[in-house]
Amino acid sequence: MTDQSTTVLPPRAAAEDSDVLSLRRPDDWHVHLRDGAMLTFAADWTARQFARAIVMPNLVPPITTVAACEAYRDRILAALPAGRAFTPLMTAYLTDQIDPDELERGFRKGVFTACKLYPANATTNSSAGVTDVRKIWKVLERLEAVGMPLLVHGEVVSHDIDIFDREAVFLETVLGPVLRDFPALKVVLEHITTEDSVRFVEDAGDNLAATITAHHLRIDRNAMFAGGLRPHAYCLPVAKRRHHRQALRKAAVSGNPRFFLGTDSAPHTKQDKESACGCAGIFSAPKALESYAQTFEEEGALDRLEGFASEFGPRFYGLPLNEGKVTLRRVSQAVPAIMEHDGLQIVPFQAEEELAWTFQDETGT
Ligand code: DOR
Ligand code: ZN
Repeated sequence: MTDQSTTVLPPRAAAEDSDVLSLRRPDDWHVHLRDGAMLTFAADWTARQFARAIVMPNLVPPITTVAACEAYRDRILAALPAGRAFTPLMTAYLTDQIDPDELERGFRKGVFTACKLYPANATTNSSAGVTDVRKIWKVLERLEAVGMPLLVHGEVVSHDIDIFDREAVFLETVLGPVLRDFPALKVVLEHITTEDSVRFVEDAGDNLAATITAHHLRIDRNAMFAGGLRPHAYCLPVAKRRHHRQALRKAAVSGNPRFFLGTDSAPHTKQDKESACGCAGIFSAPKALESYAQTFEEEGALDRLEGFASEFGPRFYGLPLNEGKVTLRRVSQAVPAIMEHDGLQIVPFQAEEELAWTFQDETGT
């Protein structure tokens, strides 16, 4: 890193300065904060950049009750440094046996913001997930009736289906029928990775939206095999061919309010990633906004970043927009090769890459 990379440019009027980007404070509509030592590491990285985040429930054991959810929310808040303003928006993990009364109670109480559908064994800590969506038809009926959003990991799990096709097959065999039978159900198709999903969302009604991660906008499947096996580029759904990534980039910058920011930042230790059976997940939280900004700038669409990051998500969820502001400055920075916390080692997304932008919150840090 040169001296220049840490130089902060003198403040100038944001509106007329292409080196300063001022945005309404953004939210992350899909994140994994984990628990224990990893939580005390991960939560603050998200809370520095985002006012709110939809927190995934795939802990061990998963979050399936109001009481477990309240306790987890308390642990998240306790993990943050004093004075950090952050609201975790909590989710319930759907199982074949989940009780719709418990979901409705948690939703009405303001504890659950949404439910998460993991097809059983689709990804990390999903073995207790739903084995067949028809088993939760009554649950979906209830979600639709009470207006509780359904967040979907959109992949089929059959080993007969090529891993690169699992998202596209899910659209036809699971999501299509769900949307047909529950036309008023609010659904977010999480972390989309294919052109098929982009088209599917574009063609659907206003009750379907999708989140797009920072990493799926920047890597395609070749990243996992660049000069050798690259476990830190492995996530689920797995990155696809380049033309899919291009479709995602076009969707993200399109200004269509049914595509919005969800990092799916999912930390695993270096050891768990660099293993004979490495975990899926990319930890993008520390430089998430910088990464999105770089992509939007490459697409000539920096003026569309605020809608994607700060406006479309809350509007879809029916929540107020944040009041505060954050600033991105055109100050280059290198992403660390590794991050350490309490004996854990974590390799962040874009490790050792140079980023063009640097994030600053209202307090100037
Ligand atoms: O890459 C992923 N990691 N995808 C998921 O769906 C889950 C996540 C995790 O929890 O590690
Ligand atoms: Zn996720």
